[in-house]
Amino acid sequence: MRGLEIPHDPNLIVGFDSFDDAGVYRLTDDLAIIQTVDFFTPVVDNPYDFGRIAAANALGDVYAMGGKPVTAMNLVCFPSRTMDIAILRDILRGGMDKLHEAEVTLVGGHSVDDPELKYGLSVTGVIHPCKIVLNSGAVPGDSLILTKPLGTGIINTAIKADMADEKTVGTVTEQMATLNRRASQLMQEVGVHACTDVTGFGLLGHACEMIQNNSIGIAIYCSAVPIFAGSIEFARMGVVPGGAFRNKAFRAAVVEFAAGVPQWAPDILFDPQTSGGLLISTSPEKAKVLLEKLHYTDHREAAIIGEIVAEPKGKICVVE
Ligand code: CO
Ligand code: CO
Repeated sequence: MRGLEIPHDPNLIVGFDSFDDAGVYRLTDDLAIIQTVDFFTPVVDNPYDFGRIAAANALGDVYAMGGKPVTAMNLVCFPSRTMDIAILRDILRGGMDKLHEAEVTLVGGHSVDDPELKYGLSVTGVIHPCKIVLNSGAVPGDSLILTKPLGTGIINTAIKADMADEKTVGTVTEQMATLNRRASQLMQEVGVHACTDVTGFGLLGHACEMIQNNSIGIAIYCSAVPIFAGSIEFARMGVVPGGAFRNKAFRAAVVEFAAGVPQWAPDILFDPQTSGGLLISTSPEKAKVLLEKLHYTDHREAAIIGEIVAEPKGKICVVE
């Protein structure tokens, strides 16, 4: 963070300055802890589902680093004077069920009275210091795999405007509540060069973090990107969260859209995701193997959506 002096610590393996998914701190030569925290306002109307999604989302950063989440703590902002406490119970139950599925132990939490409901978790995981999967490390020729469809920010905006039908809400809710756990295990089995999870900055925002050191570029094949049914329609109607425009403006100098790319593409590719999929960079041969394995899991829509290129460096080109 600019303007903030972070004291140097030789055991800090991944800190603020690498724009990675989580902090990693070495405890011993063969053990490091991964720490991450995330909380936000409801993205769906059902409190139980919101809890599941918030937990899956918080765990996502540990999975993106190739780590194993171990413990978690609840973070709650709740308007106790105006809202039924049963709602909070349902949220926490959703979170707990997800932690149980992930074999993560809830060790505590903290709640404050707040006019605006928010929920999330801090998660601690473990990893061998030599096995950390960074968001940097991709090499030219690599294929890029995305494990979940895009469009959750747009659909969430449609939900708030009462425009999304039940089926769309159901599909998107299940995807957001799906853990990146299997995908993370599979990528470690196969072996990859880099990984990050797609969250608030959108696909292209997080892809930009993969080329931070400006030694490589990325080509994204727009037509290969998995997208939730309905989100293109909503984007055409202008049902797009403000975050998508901020993400696009922030990366305007880095991302180029080729002629022929549909007009809705920037809205979808910069759409801020909640509990989005993993974006994985690995050799084309391994990518094929990994994709096949992913298709046998809950990630049936996982796809190869682009490649790492040598030129132009430090740029992302979105092509048809
Ligand atoms: Co992340
Ligand atoms: Co995060």
